[in-house]
Amino acid sequence: MNVKIVNLNKWYGEVHALKNINVIIQTGKFTSLLGPSGCGKTTLLKILAGLETPDQGDIYFDDQCVFSRDRNINVLPQKRQIGMVFQEFALWPHMNVFENIAFPLKAKKMHVEIERKVESILETVRLEGMSKRYPDQLSGGQQQRVAFARAVVANPKIVLFDEPLSALDAVLRDEMRFEISNMVKQMNLTGIYVTHDQIEAMSMSDQIIVMNKGNILQVGTPEDIYDRPVSKLVMDFVGKSNWFECGTKAIRPERLALYPTGPYKKVSGVVQSIAYLGDKYEMIVQIEKMGNWMSYHNKRCQLGDRIDLYFKHSDVIRFAD
Ligand SMILES: Nc1ncnc2c1ncn2[C@@H]1O[C@H](COP(=O)(O)OP(=O)(O)OP(=O)(O)O)[C@@H](O)[C@H]1O
Ligand SMILES: [Mg+2]
Repeated sequence: MNVKIVNLNKWYGEVHALKNINVIIQTGKFTSLLGPSGCGKTTLLKILAGLETPDQGDIYFDDQCVFSRDRNINVLPQKRQIGMVFQEFALWPHMNVFENIAFPLKAKKMHVEIERKVESILETVRLEGMSKRYPDQLSGGQQQRVAFARAVVANPKIVLFDEPLSALDAVLRDEMRFEISNMVKQMNLTGIYVTHDQIEAMSMSDQIIVMNKGNILQVGTPEDIYDRPVSKLVMDFVGKSNWFECGTKAIRPERLALYPTGPYKKVSGVVQSIAYLGDKYEMIVQIEKMGNWMSYHNKRCQLGDRIDLYFKHSDVIRFAD
């Protein structure tokens, strides 16, 4: 299901939480809403789910208008064919896995085939044989899979995630990222995923919507956002950057080399710090007249070394003043 948001505004008292949002989220794609804390990600997700009411604007799911202030349309949350997965999982502790997952089906008064549906979704999330366990008898990753299963068991068209992995440890998070985006694709759902973690957004998404202070700064593929940021804010928020020429140009750390490899530009500086990250050395180099730059290399330099860094003109990202 395509989601189209037109001129959407939301105020909480004095706080203008969403400022004239216009965007299309495509069917069958995995889209992330990426932005710092308080930028309006959860508010937008709740509005799509029908759990918050905008002050202005229209929302369409394909051709159906689900919200319009002007035309007084507001489709109830349970009629929007949406599944949701939250940060804190929100499983019911007094219900076992089966009962948790069956709940949305029972709420929809679907009394037939519940068992088959639950068993089938348990297989998809690789929790066969665990239907009698209670949430406190499951690991964090397993609980998250139950939360996902519960969100999608009633065949929604869209599934919304609000920072679903932030309660998990780093290793599990990596694993679940891959699993979640795969399951969403496999089930041909439109996935909308809120995160303030750029690695998560980059690695999972077909499309990223970068937000800040209630505004959309850029919409694009991970490559668009990282390699072709439209503004300094996006450049700074996604990935590391080294700025020069009064903040009108920037270069990514991984584009800097210790040796020239073609037509290049050269800067010189003194190594200030070195961190070995396993796959590379991360160095802070104080560049003459430009300040501290970050660069990545596969060779260890020494603190205080004077070094040259080379980069291609074509790797420089430029911004209007
Ligand atoms: N119920 C509410 N009443 C008043 N203000 C609210 C309410 N909900 C959100 N806000 C404000 O609206 C703005 C956007 O909040 P929102 O929860 O959408 O941010 P977020 O991007 O999800 O942040 P985080 O990453 O911290 O979860 C914030 O300034 C927040 O304080
Ligand atoms: Mg939030």
